[in-house]
Amino acid sequence: MKIAVSGKGGVGKTLVSGTLSGYFAQKGFKVMAIDADPSPNLALTLGIPVEEANKIVPISENSELLESKTKTDYPGVFKLHFTVDDIVEQNGMKSPYGVNLLVMGTIKSAGGGCACGANAVIRELLRHLIVDRDEIVIVDMEAGVEHMGRGTASHVDVMLVVVDSSRKSLEIAKKISGFAHDAGIKNVFVVGNRVRDSEETELITDFTEKNGLSLLALIPYDDTVIKADRVGEAPLKYAQTSEGVKAIQVIGEKLLQDRA
Ligand SMILES: Nc1ncnc2c1ncn2[C@@H]1O[C@H](COP(=O)(O)OP(=O)(O)OP(=O)(O)O)[C@@H](O)[C@H]1O
Ligand SMILES: [Mg+2]
Repeated sequence: MKIAVSGKGGVGKTLVSGTLSGYFAQKGFKVMAIDADPSPNLALTLGIPVEEANKIVPISENSELLESKTKTDYPGVFKLHFTVDDIVEQNGMKSPYGVNLLVMGTIKSAGGGCACGANAVIRELLRHLIVDRDEIVIVDMEAGVEHMGRGTASHVDVMLVVVDSSRKSLEIAKKISGFAHDAGIKNVFVVGNRVRDSEETELITDFTEKNGLSLLALIPYDDTVIKADRVGEAPLKYAQTSEGVKAIQVIGEKLLQDRA
C-alpha cells in the first residue's frame, strides 16, 4: 500500500505520517516512511533522537551521492539510467518503532525548474519507492501529487489530505484533491485534525460534504501531541492515553480493512 500525506503547512501532516507509519510497523508490516518536506522533521515523530536526526543529510542535498549517480565525463551531460534501490538500502534509517525512514528533501516539480541530474535521481527514487517496492510506503509531502511524475502518482493507493478547521486549509485540500483525482488516484480522503469542538467538526464536515470530498476521520486536539513535540518525542510513546494517536490508529485500521 502506497500512501501520500499532504495538506497546508502546519496542519498535522507529519503527525499523521509518522504515527500511521509506526502503527503499521507495530502491526508487523514492513514500512518505509519518506520525508519529502523541504524542512524535514519526520524523524522525531518516528522516535529517532534529536542528535541522530540532526545528522541526517536529505538525499536532495547529498551532492556527492547525486553526482555519483548521474555524472559523466562530459560537462552538462547526465546519465539517464542509474540504480536507486541501493540509495534506499544505504540511506534509510531504522526508527525505534521499526519504521525505515528515508529523508528525501524537496521534490521539484516534474515539468518546470532545472532539468539537472539531481532532480532526475530524486524523481526516479520516488518512482522506485512508489511503483516498484511492495512494502507499505508513506510519503510526508508539502505539496500534492503534481510534484510527482504522472506514472508515479497513479500508483499511489491512498492520498490523505490533512486539514484543520481553517478555511485556508480546506480550500487547499479541495485543490490538492482535484489534482490527485486528475492524476488517477482513486482513494482521496480528507482527514480533519486538531478538532476542538462541535463547531470545528461542523465546519470540516460541511465543507467536505458541499465540495464532494470524502472525509475519512477526525483527529481531536490533543495536548499530549504538543507535549511530545516540545521535547522531540514520538507521540506514539503515549499511544495508551493520547486521543490523537488513538484516532490515527483507527485510520490505520480502516486503511488495512479497505485494502483487504
Ligand atoms: N491533533 C493535534 N492536537 C494538538 N496539536 C497538534 C495536533 N496535530 C498537530 N499538532 C501540532 O501542530 C503542529 C504542526 O504539526 P505537524 O508538524 O504534524 O504539521 P505539518 O503539517 O507536518 O507541518 P509542516 O507543514 O510545517 O511540515 C505541531 O506543533 C503539532 O504538535
Ligand atoms: Mg511536516
